[in-house]
Amino acid sequence: MIGKIPKVFIDELLIKTNIIDLINSRIPLKKQGQNYHAKCPFHDEKTPSFTVNDKKQFYYCFGCNSHGNVIDFLMNYEHLTFIESIETLSILNRLTIPYNIGYKKNENEFNKRNELYCLMKTISDIYKKNIINNNTNEAYLYLKRRGINEKMINDFSIGFAPKEWNNMSNKIILNKKNKNTLIDSGILLLNKQGYPYDRFRGRIIFPIKDNYGRINGFGARNLDNKKPKYINSPETIIFHKSRQLYGLYEIKKKYPKPNKLLIVEGYIDVIMLTQFKINYAVASLGTSITSEHIQLLFRTTNNVIYCYDGDNSGKEAAWRTLKKSLPYIQDGKSIKFIFLPQNEDPDTIIRKEGKKAFENRINQATDLSKFLFSKLLKNINLSSIEGRSYLSAIAVPLIKLIPGETMRIYLKQILGHKLGIPDLNQLEKLFIKNKKKIENYSIKPIKQNRMRILISLLIQNPYLAENVPSITKLNNLKIKGITLFLALIKICKKNPKLNTGQILEIYRNTDIISVLYKLAKWDHMIIEKETKNVFLDLLSGLYDKILELRQELLINKERQKGLNNAEKNELWSINKKLAGI
Ligand code: UTP
Ligand code: MN
Repeated sequence: MIGKIPKVFIDELLIKTNIIDLINSRIPLKKQGQNYHAKCPFHDEKTPSFTVNDKKQFYYCFGCNSHGNVIDFLMNYEHLTFIESIETLSILNRLTIPYNIGYKKNENEFNKRNELYCLMKTISDIYKKNIINNNTNEAYLYLKRRGINEKMINDFSIGFAPKEWNNMSNKIILNKKNKNTLIDSGILLLNKQGYPYDRFRGRIIFPIKDNYGRINGFGARNLDNKKPKYINSPETIIFHKSRQLYGLYEIKKKYPKPNKLLIVEGYIDVIMLTQFKINYAVASLGTSITSEHIQLLFRTTNNVIYCYDGDNSGKEAAWRTLKKSLPYIQDGKSIKFIFLPQNEDPDTIIRKEGKKAFENRINQATDLSKFLFSKLLKNINLSSIEGRSYLSAIAVPLIKLIPGETMRIYLKQILGHKLGIPDLNQLEKLFIKNKKKIENYSIKPIKQNRMRILISLLIQNPYLAENVPSITKLNNLKIKGITLFLALIKICKKNPKLNTGQILEIYRNTDIISVLYKLAKWDHMIIEKETKNVFLDLLSGLYDKILELRQELLINKERQKGLNNAEKNELWSINKKLAGI
C-alpha cells in the first residue's frame, strides 16, 4: 500500500502540518522549555509524560513508549490507516493527493471514496428538496405531527424519498458508472426488469455525517409503522456503522470539546433533544455500542452518559456497554447511565416533561460504581462465605480492567467493604493473584556506543550533517551502523532543513524503524549548545576507528601478499596520522 503516494507529497504534508497545532487541537498542550507536554492519550497517568517537540516535529511518551510524527499520531489517536492519515492531512491542508501514475489501486480507492462522498451529497440534496413546507407534502406533515421544527429539518438536513419508482433516477443523471456506484452503496436497487429504484422510497431520510461533515450514509424511517421501521445504508468503503455516531458532527461544529455527551438510541431522539436545547445527544445507528464508539466518545469528552430503556433488555444492553467501557476508563473519564420509564424514549419523555426535568434525570444518572455493584450483587447473599467469595470472583477481573488508578482504588474500597475486608492491603492479595501484566511499559535501555550516539544525535539534529566531510574508502568496513549513518548523512545533506519527523517518515515500514524511533527519543542529557562539539568529538573518534581498521587490513595484506606502492604510502600516512604526527 505504502509507496503509492509520492514521497514528495507526504513530505509536503509533513512540512505544512505543525505537530504542535495538530495535537493541541485534540489534546491541550502546555509549553515547558523546549517541549510541549500533556497527559498521555495512550495510557493512563497522573503526571504528564507525553512530550511533543516543535523542532523535531515528533512526539513521544516516557511512560508508555508511544512515539512518532503527525502521521503516526493520527494513526494511533484516531485509529486511522496510513492512507486515511494522509487523506486527513490532505483535507486539513486543502491539498489533493497526487497518486503516482502506475499505482492505480490506491488512486482508484481514493477516487471511489471521493466520488461516493459527492454522490451522497447530491442525493441528500435531492431528498432534502422533497420536503416541501405545505399541507399536502406527506413528509412535511409527518415531521410536523412528530413535533420536529423547521430549524431541525434544516440543521440535520432531513429529507424524504417519495414512493414513486423512478423518482431518483429522474432527478439524477444516471450514467453507467454512477449507477453501479449507487447500486454498490445500497441507494438504488434493481427491479425485475433491471430498472433502478430507490431503496429508501417512502421514507424520511436522515443523512449521516462523518467527522468532517461529509455525508457517508443514510438512515430512513417508514411513514407508517410497517416493518422494518428503519433501514440504514449498508457498510460501504466510506460508511462504517461501528465507528459512526449520529449527531456528533453537528455537536462538534458548535462545541469542539463538549463537556458531556448523551448516547441515545434513535435519530429522532437526537433531533428532539437538540430541539429542546439538549445540545449533546448522539446515537449509534441501530447497533449496540462498540469499543470504537467508546474510544471516539472519550476522545471528544470526559463525561459519557448512556440512556437506555428501564426494562430488562435496556439493563442488559447497559451492562454490555459498561463491560466494554471498563478498559477505557482512565482517570478523569466517567460513564453514567440513565434508565427511562417503560415505553418511553428520550423523544417522548422530553416532550412530556420538558428540558428541566430531563436534565434532572441526567444529573441524577447512575454512576459506574453504583450500576456495577447493583448488577453484581443481584442474587448474591453477602452474609454467606460462598456469596462473598463469588462476588470477589466476578468483581475482581472486571475492576482489574480499569486503567484509571483512582477509579480502580475506589471500586476496590467498595468491594472490600462488601466483602468485609476493609484493609486495602489485605484486599490487594485478591488482585495480585493471577495478576496480568497490564503495565508492561518498561523500555529496554539502549546500549550506548559511539555509532548509536552519532546516529541518534544526527536524527535529532539533522543540521549536524553539514559537519561531516564526504568519507571515501569506506567499503567493507566492519563498523556496525556505518551504512545507516552514511545513508542518513546523505539524506540530511541533500535537504538541510529536514526535521526528525520527516527523516523517520522515510524509513516507515523498514526493518530499522523501531531502532530509529528509539534513537530519536533518546535523551542524551547534552546541553543544547554543546551538541555540535559532542558530535564532532564522536565523529573524530569514528575516523580514528576507520583508520585503525584500514591499518589492520593493510598490515595483514603486507604479511600475506605484500603491498603495492600506493598502499605502502597509504599505510605510512595512516601510521603518521594515528600517531598524531
Ligand atoms: P426504535 O425502534 O426505538 O425507534 O429504534 P425510535 O428511534 O424511537 O423511532 P421512532 O420514534 O419510532 O421514529 C431506535 C433505533 O434503532 C434503529 C434505528 O437507528 C433507530 O433510530 N432501528 C430501529 C433500525 O435500524 N431498524 C429498525 O427496524 C428499528
Ligand atoms: Mn421514538
